[in-house]
Amino acid sequence: MRYAKNILETIGNTPLVQLNSVTKEIDALVLAKVETFNPGNSIKDRMALKMIEDAEADGRLKPGGTIIEGTSGNTGMGLALAAIIKGYQCIFVISDKQSKEKMDILRAVGAEVIVCPTNVEPEDPRSYYSVSKRLGEETPNSWYVNQYDNPSNAITHYEQTGPEIWEQTDGKITHLVVGVGTGGTISGTAKYLKEQNPNIKIWGIDTYGSVFKKYHETGIFDENEIYPYITEGIGEDILPKNVDFSVIDGFTKVTDKDAAVYTRKIALEEGIFVGNSAGSAIKGMLQLKENFKKDDVVVVIFHDHGSRYVGKMFNDDWMRERGFLDEEITTAADLIKSHLDKDLITVQTEELVSHAIERMREFKISQIPVRDVNGLVGSVDESALLHRYIEDKNIADTPIKNVMGAMYPVVQLNASIDAVSKLITKENQAVMVDLGNGKHHIITKHDIINAI
Ligand SMILES: Cc1ncc(COP(=O)(O)O)c(C=O)c1O
Repeated sequence: MRYAKNILETIGNTPLVQLNSVTKEIDALVLAKVETFNPGNSIKDRMALKMIEDAEADGRLKPGGTIIEGTSGNTGMGLALAAIIKGYQCIFVISDKQSKEKMDILRAVGAEVIVCPTNVEPEDPRSYYSVSKRLGEETPNSWYVNQYDNPSNAITHYEQTGPEIWEQTDGKITHLVVGVGTGGTISGTAKYLKEQNPNIKIWGIDTYGSVFKKYHETGIFDENEIYPYITEGIGEDILPKNVDFSVIDGFTKVTDKDAAVYTRKIALEEGIFVGNSAGSAIKGMLQLKENFKKDDVVVVIFHDHGSRYVGKMFNDDWMRERGFLDEEITTAADLIKSHLDKDLITVQTEELVSHAIERMREFKISQIPVRDVNGLVGSVDESALLHRYIEDKNIADTPIKNVMGAMYPVVQLNASIDAVSKLITKENQAVMVDLGNGKHHIITKHDIINAI
């Protein structure tokens, strides 16, 4: 019989898979180290277990103890799995930028999850660095992991990821491309590989809003470079001790949009369903393509699984809201596509102004078409109601039919965006789209601004 004695024994020895489509512009053999094959679906299982084992060995983590960490999710998953097998509790502090799926997954494996604001300085007491540190000091029999500065993090990759890649490529690897967060993956893997062959080039992938690239190139920690970004898992506003800049040959920065678009491409073109930092790494590799030659063997690390991003990069509405979908928006049909699933909010002629105001408040809308039993007959809009209210404070109890304005113009689904936007004026705030069978949907100025 061949079986693992527990789930932790299945960590590591992940496959190396050739990429055949997303990197076809690159004239080299490109291989992805697909870390989703780990039991927690990410590379972080490796270092989570090693950090725990090292802390057990030197007494920092004692039997029945509580593991505390500021984690964007993947390290938490690895720690939680090991905690279950080894009998520890986990408290994880996570920033509110992280996907809800990541938080739910951590709770599913028994961890307590505390959510902190992203847009505060690391020194701020509300930041996830500060909160996790404070919990570490206040919780009895606890151990604060600190993956950023914990040397066991990079050592894991020196002991596992580096040797695996070296063996799997038969020592033929020429370049390594890795997204950098705590720096553990790139530093440990690079150190091992460069010891085998100092000519191997190591490229770090950074984000806009992070300090790594400039610091590597100039030695300047530029606080002006720090601003919120969407890409998950990579880039930092601190310099973690686990980033060993001396083994990294260069960084390239990838935009949030490109990272998201390429994350989707990997799933669609390679059938490899991986997370956001994989998209960054592939786009970064394409930005670096001049550096690769025909006989090169380029290895890229895919850190985590796509399932953690189904509400984000893999969701069309999420992509559309951020302008990440390069969709051609040319007609009225395109403009209403994202809210076609929602019912048209209307108010009836005999309802009162207070009902219309309540509906505007509940649905956060500024225009409402008015209907009677025969169909649409008029409209009410927020600013007109406000003017009427200033004239007459009793207006809330007035029937809509006494205050409503003209019905919005109606267009067909194939009306051009130009034609639709010309109909929206200071006096007329919306356009109705005829869906057939007496049904309509609404296009507002807001929808047009979003689209363009
Ligand atoms: C999805 C994802 N990609 C990349 C990284 C970066 O790995 P490392 O922290 O080893 O630099 C992380 C780690 O936080 C991650 O969660």
